[in-house]
Amino acid sequence: MRKIDFSPKNYEEWLFKGLGLKPGEELTSRILEPIFKLNHAWIDGDETMISVYKFDNRLMVAYSLYYMTMQMPKLWFMIDRNPQMLDDLFNQKESLHIADMGCGPGTYIWALLFYLYAKYPRQLGKISVIKGVDHSNVCITLVRQLFHALVEFFPQFQHIEFQFIEDNWQNQIKEKYDWINFGNTINESDDNSLLWVKEVDAEIVSVIEPGNTKTFQKLLPLRSIFMEMNWHIHFPCPTSHECPMSSNNWCHFHINRFANPLIQRISNKASRLNSRHHFVGYMFSRFSHQHNSDHWRVLSTLKRVKRSGIRFLCNGQSMIEAVVNRKDKTECNKPFFQAQAGDVIHINAKNSDCLIHKQRITKNDAITVLTDTS
Ligand SMILES: C[S@@+](CC[C@H](N)C(=O)[O-])C[C@H]1O[C@@H](n2cnc3c(N)ncnc32)[C@H](O)[C@@H]1O
Repeated sequence: MRKIDFSPKNYEEWLFKGLGLKPGEELTSRILEPIFKLNHAWIDGDETMISVYKFDNRLMVAYSLYYMTMQMPKLWFMIDRNPQMLDDLFNQKESLHIADMGCGPGTYIWALLFYLYAKYPRQLGKISVIKGVDHSNVCITLVRQLFHALVEFFPQFQHIEFQFIEDNWQNQIKEKYDWINFGNTINESDDNSLLWVKEVDAEIVSVIEPGNTKTFQKLLPLRSIFMEMNWHIHFPCPTSHECPMSSNNWCHFHINRFANPLIQRISNKASRLNSRHHFVGYMFSRFSHQHNSDHWRVLSTLKRVKRSGIRFLCNGQSMIEAVVNRKDKTECNKPFFQAQAGDVIHINAKNSDCLIHKQRITKNDAITVLTDTS
C-alpha cells in the first residue's frame, strides 16, 4: 500500500506552536465554528465569503490547522508518482528557487519540504530560496509565524532563504524560478486571461485545485496553453493530447483525509465523516518523459461486480471504462486489480484497438504498475 503521509513526527507540535494554540484547542469552538463557516461557504459557493475569509485571522488560523493539514497529501500524491521528474530536477540543478503563488499559511511550502525531508534528504541542501506570495496580510503574518516555528523545530531547513511577500501573484510570476506551485489559488482568480503562462520561466509548474467539474473545466484551457507552449505534462495525463473528458466530467483524484490523526480528531468532533477529499491536479515540466499511449492513468478505485473488475482509465487521448471479466482474470492482468487510483499502468495489449473500442482487458494482456515506488 502506498504511503501518503509524509508529515514529520513533531508535525502537530510545530503547527500548534506556530499558530499560538494549546493542545486540545482544536476541539473547541475557537476552531470548530470557523471550520463550519468555511465549509458552508465552499459548499454553497458563497462568493462574498470566498473573497473575504483570507483577511480574517480567526478563519485563517482554523484553515491552517484543519484545511492546510488536509491539503498537503495532494502534492505528495502527485510528486510521489513522478520520481523521474524530481530526479531530473535534482540532476540538472545545483540550487533551486521555488515559489508558491497564493501561499496562504504556506501549505505547499511545508508539504514540499516535509516530502523532501522524508524522501530526498540529501537533496535538501539544494533548496536555496523559497518565496511565498499572497495578497492577504493575514496569510503573510501566519506563514511568517509558521516559518519561525519551522526553523526552530527543523534545523535541516535553516539554510533556506525564505521570502514572504504580500502582493498579487500576477506581479511576481515573471521572475526566474525552478518550480512554481499554485495551491487553490487559480479558482479564486476573476481574471481568466492565461497570458501569464507565456511569461513563466521555470522548470516545473504544479497546480492543485478543489475537486469538482467546474474547477476542472476552468483549468482545461490552462492545460491547453501549457501544451501549446511545448511543456510536458506529468500528471494526470500520460500523453499530451486534447483532453478526452466531456464537458460535464472531470478527472477525479482523492486523498484519504483521515490519514492524519489531527484531521481525524477534528472531523469526528465536527461530524465530517466522509474520508474522501477530492482534488484536481496538474504537473507540467520542461523535462520530457517516456510515456506513450499504452500507459494509462487509473482514475478510479476498483469496482467489483460478480468478481469482475471495472475501473476508469485514461491514456491522455482516450478515457475508457475498462473491464476484466471474471473468466479472463489471469496472473498477467492481475495488476489491474492491485493498482491504486492515481497510478499509471502499462497495458501490453494483444489488440489495443479492441481495448479502446470494447474496453475489455483480455486474458493475455500483460499489465505492469509503472508508478509503484513504495
Ligand atoms: C484557498 S487559499 C489556499 C492557500 C494555500 N495555497 C492552500 O492551498 O492551502 C487561496 C489563497 O490564495 C490567495 N490569493 C488569491 N488570489 C490571489 C492573488 N491574486 N494574489 C495573491 N494571492 C492570492 C488568498 O489570499 C488565499 O490565501
